[in-house]
Amino acid sequence: MNNINLDEYLQQQITEIREKVGGEKILLALSGGVDSSVCAALLTRAVPGQLVCIFVDHGFMRQNEGDEIEAAFANQNLQLIRINAASRFLAKLAGVTEPEKKRKIIGEEFIRVFEEEAKKLGEIKFFAQGTIYPDIIESGDGKHATIKSHHNVGGLPEKLNFKGIIEPLAGLYKDGVREIGKKLGLAEAFIARQPFPGPGLAIRVLGEITEEKLDVLRASDAIVRAELDGKGLNQYFAVMTNTYSVGVKGDQRTFDPVIAIRAVKTNDFMVAESANLSHETLTRIAARITNEIPSVSRVVYDITSKPPATVEWE
Ligand code: XMP
Repeated sequence: MNNINLDEYLQQQITEIREKVGGEKILLALSGGVDSSVCAALLTRAVPGQLVCIFVDHGFMRQNEGDEIEAAFANQNLQLIRINAASRFLAKLAGVTEPEKKRKIIGEEFIRVFEEEAKKLGEIKFFAQGTIYPDIIESGDGKHATIKSHHNVGGLPEKLNFKGIIEPLAGLYKDGVREIGKKLGLAEAFIARQPFPGPGLAIRVLGEITEEKLDVLRASDAIVRAELDGKGLNQYFAVMTNTYSVGVKGDQRTFDPVIAIRAVKTNDFMVAESANLSHETLTRIAARITNEIPSVSRVVYDITSKPPATVEWE
C-alpha cells in the first residue's frame, strides 16, 4: 500500500516524462497485463501520439483476450501493433514437455519477435516498462535504474540500445497502479483483472502444447472464470492436465483429458490457500465443462496450499 497522493504522483510523472522525452517516440511492450496497460494509458496522457506499443500475441492468451486488449486501446491516441505469433511459438515448443524449458523458449522467442518488429519501426530513443515497486525489490539491489529481468521482456532494453528507459509506475504498489489506471479512464474490468503469467496458458497445458489442448483449456477456463468471477478470490483458472481418463457418454466408452480447477485466496501470492468453494459451485462447473466441451472426460479440484504446491502447475 502506497502512502502517497496519487494525483500528485500522476502529475509529477506526466511532467517528468514530457521533460525527458520532448517530441521523441517511446516504445512499449504491451502484454495486456494491468501494469503495462496502465503504463500505456499514462504515457498516452503525458505525450499523446508519441507512444508505439507492440503487443506480441504468443497464442497463449485466454479466450478473446487478444481482441479485448486491442479493443481497450483502440481509439486511444497511440499506435498499437499486434503481432500474431502463435504458430511461431507453437512450432518452437513442439515436443517440449519440461516446464522450465517451455518458459525459456517463450522468453527467447518473445525477444526475437519484439526485436524484429522494433527494427521495422526505425530508431526509437525511449523504451518504457510497466515496472512496479515490488519488481524492483524482487530484483535484489533496490535501485530504480535496475531493469528487471522480467520473464518476457528480459534483455530488451540492452539489446535494442535505447537512450532512455521510462518506468513511471516504479514507485507504486499494485493497488496504486490500479488507482492510477482508474484515474486515467481505463475500464474497471480491465484494471481489476487477476494476475496472468507471462508465458500464459503455455504453463497451464501440462506436457506438450498443442492447438487442440489449448482450445480445450481456453473453453474450460472461460467457464471457470465466468462461474467464479466476483467471489472475492485472488486467482482462479483451469489447467489442462496431461492425464487422460476413461469415461462414458451414451453407450460409448471415452478416453479424454482431465481438467483441473485451481482457485486460491492469498495476500501476496507467496503463500496461498485453496479456496473453500462449495460442493454446489464445483459440481456446477464440472457439469458445465463436461457438457459444453465434449472432449473433457473429468474435472478435479486442486485443494493444495502453497507451499508446498505453487499457484501455477508448471
Ligand atoms: P506461483 O505459481 O509461483 O505463482 O505460485 C505466483 C504468482 O505468480 C504468477 N506467475 C507468473 N507471473 N510470469 C508471471 O508474470 C511467470 O512466469 C509466472 N509464473 C507464475 C502466478 O500466476 C501467480 O499469480
